[in-house]
Amino acid sequence: MEKPNVVLGVTGGIACYKALELVRLLVQDSCNVRVVMTREATEFVAPLSFQTLSGAPVGTDLFSLTQESEIGHINLADSADVLVIAPATANVIAKLAAGIADDLLTTVVLATQAPLLVVPSMNVHMLAHPMVQANIAKLRSAGYHVMEAAAGYLACGYEGKGRLPEPPAIAEEIRRLLRPKDLSGEKIVVTAGPSREPLDPVRYLSNRSSGKMGYALARAAARRGARVTLVSGPTALAAPEGVTTVSVVTAEEMRAAVLAEFDSATAVLMAAAVADYRPRSTAGRKMKRGDGNRRVELVPNPDIVAELTARKRRQVVVVGFAAETESLVENARQKLHRKNLDLVVANDVTQEGSGFDVDTNAVTLLDRDGTVTPLPVMSKDAVADRICDWLLQHREHSHRRGA
Ligand code: PMT
Repeated sequence: MEKPNVVLGVTGGIACYKALELVRLLVQDSCNVRVVMTREATEFVAPLSFQTLSGAPVGTDLFSLTQESEIGHINLADSADVLVIAPATANVIAKLAAGIADDLLTTVVLATQAPLLVVPSMNVHMLAHPMVQANIAKLRSAGYHVMEAAAGYLACGYEGKGRLPEPPAIAEEIRRLLRPKDLSGEKIVVTAGPSREPLDPVRYLSNRSSGKMGYALARAAARRGARVTLVSGPTALAAPEGVTTVSVVTAEEMRAAVLAEFDSATAVLMAAAVADYRPRSTAGRKMKRGDGNRRVELVPNPDIVAELTARKRRQVVVVGFAAETESLVENARQKLHRKNLDLVVANDVTQEGSGFDVDTNAVTLLDRDGTVTPLPVMSKDAVADRICDWLLQHREHSHRRGA
């Protein structure tokens, strides 16, 4: 896609200042950003700040002869690839729900055919008010995308739900709306993070997986139109927007959650670092320190991915990862065949900027046709898109072969 055009509506709430950061992120993401502010928003932040960051004139007035000739509300509406309102106050949400167009922003909303993302931000009690909730429900039923407000400390002094989600989360949602929906029709199950195998109520065996790779996959697939269920071990990451997230702790729980989704899935992407072994028994109370050594007997966990491929239907694609510290391609190839995978993502976890708990990864893709595709170090988001690209190509090849 060429540089996408984002029209950002800013309405009069204290979170207006966060919209400045959103503009910066979008510009950094190579978007053309046109900002439209309500009169109330200009009381919080000067239009000049948005103009400087976006590098484009800011629309504030439907009846300004200069603005209308330079920008034009229909021009704004037609040029938008996505229209975002962040922050969206209770007032603008009510106007949108009623179809009112009494200023530049609400007029552009009615005139555009672009997808609309509304990001509410307000006091906790205002957000919970039945009128506001009814209006939000109305927007959703009209096909508008409404992000959930975040919870936490609010500028009005209350704690609770009503905060504007952080700008990177809003930018992510915008990217998702802008993406070509080339994976629509797919129902993808992604696993992420570690499993934890308890020794006693306070101790467990686990590994260094942060979940970043799996979460990147879930986001990429959802952005590209797939319905995504993310089965996640314990991580510190926020649940991705537009994805159904199922939280699990142990390998057994992960197995049950994946199997519950498997029959309706078209693809499974297993990025989780599942413990191969668990303690034979879990102590009911915290184990006391004693003299001398202590032995822990380990028993094998189920191999989830191997179980999936043993029962899979032909058109279901199963992708495994192989975290390797030596003989990367050789070991990964063995896993491809032993676990009967369609693709294995060989992950060199010894290389700098690759593997566990970093934002980048270096992987080699090996598929059943014998194609080996080494990729340079890139962000986990970019790796995730490469894996989605592979899935798309695999579908096209299978289609051509009549499979
Ligand atoms: O989470 P991050 O910090 O972003 O790190 C990313 C990652 C390094 C965890 C990820 O890129 C990765 O390599 N994940 C797979 C790690 C792993 O467990 O590799 P493995 O070679 O042990 O397992 C091979 C495959 O079998 C994997 O798809 C794994 O999910 C699956 N498996 C493993 C054991 C088991 N009992 N059941 C399984 O299904």
